[in-house]
Amino acid sequence: MRPSATGCTSSAATASPSFFSSGRPQFGSAPQLEVLAAADGVAAGVLAEIREAMNVHSVLRGQVVTFTTSHYEPGAGGVTFVRRPTVSAAEVVLPEGLLARVERHVLGIGRHRAELAAAGQHLKRGVLLYGPPGTGKTHTVRHLVGAAQDSTVILLSGLSLQLVTQAADTARALQPAIVVLEDCDLVAEERGHFSSSPLLFEVLDALDGLAADCDVVFLLTTNRADVLEPALAQRPGRVDLAVEIPLPDARARRALLDLYAAELPFGPDVLDEVAVGAEGTTASFAKELVRRSVLRAVERQGEVSDDDLRTSLEEMMADGGALTRVLLGGAGPADRRGRASGAGPEFATFPGVVPASGPAASAVAAGWDE
Ligand SMILES: Nc1ncnc2c1ncn2[C@@H]1O[C@H](COP(=O)(O)OP(=O)(O)OP(=O)(O)O)[C@@H](O)[C@H]1O
Ligand SMILES: [Mg+2]
Repeated sequence: MRPSATGCTSSAATASPSFFSSGRPQFGSAPQLEVLAAADGVAAGVLAEIREAMNVHSVLRGQVVTFTTSHYEPGAGGVTFVRRPTVSAAEVVLPEGLLARVERHVLGIGRHRAELAAAGQHLKRGVLLYGPPGTGKTHTVRHLVGAAQDSTVILLSGLSLQLVTQAADTARALQPAIVVLEDCDLVAEERGHFSSSPLLFEVLDALDGLAADCDVVFLLTTNRADVLEPALAQRPGRVDLAVEIPLPDARARRALLDLYAAELPFGPDVLDEVAVGAEGTTASFAKELVRRSVLRAVERQGEVSDDDLRTSLEEMMADGGALTRVLLGGAGPADRRGRASGAGPEFATFPGVVPASGPAASAVAAGWDE
């Protein structure tokens, strides 16, 4: 807002962050609104009302969106709408009580926002899900996003993580909101457009920049907690819940087989046997194992049998398929020892963090849109 020499008030508003479109960014033509009024304060009032109406009626409100970067102008880009996923809690196989803990923090605080605010408690929260590839971090996020029906959700991953400041502004304007920062280790050392510090610091600073009473969740995932740890140690207090999503134990592997083979006629004994035999593998491994078994049956034009499951497990665990096994999150010869048990070195920030090993950390597809 600029008071003019004549005493009139002249104010300009560029597009609100919750209205992410700019006319023709390649020519620098971001939309602008100017209001002139005869009396002081009138223009500011009009603009405030317009801004409020933009936020209330924003097409992004209550939607799940991703931001994309522009070739022409850093900071200006597009918005893509994504269908809100529906993943029930029963479809997420995690250690006892773990999902409930995450849900309480992400969804419970929002559900009780009025009571918490009345009791002087802050609403803003940062949650980190970490663990080996293919264990269900993205899957858990999809469940949370599906359950947070009234929240605006902004998904950022890879290069779009550099738009974190815009995402935070939009989240503030359209709260309740969730900003998902997928695989944020990928930007731990990358520099942003506007700053010389690593992009990850921008992510953490954006979280810090939000007022405490914002009903905004920053949901971070990584399979390289070791890469994140120094940045988190330097910017303490941004992440208030860090949860390890571990490799499934035998009970969880059995539950995963039950989940993914629910429609198939496998006997309980073979499922028990295969759950034990698949020691050291991930949840996504169990899913792929079932698909391979069905494929075998389809190829010979027969019914899928217990033997198909056994043979597929043998094939997938065989040494000859070592790279495939690693890509699917099966244990390599060197990392069979500690990962499934959760044993490993402790980080100062999050006791019990186990650095994910294995070269395929980012090779497994994120699987957001499956
Ligand atoms: N805990 C789980 N319960 C049920 N299914 C799971 C679980 N974990 C993974 N899956 C299945 O495997 C797929 C891949 O898992 P997901 O993308 O969530 O792994 P991730 O932990 O995000 O891995 P990355 O670190 O590589 O991003 C999911 O889409 C889901 O179908
Ligand atoms: Mg993922």
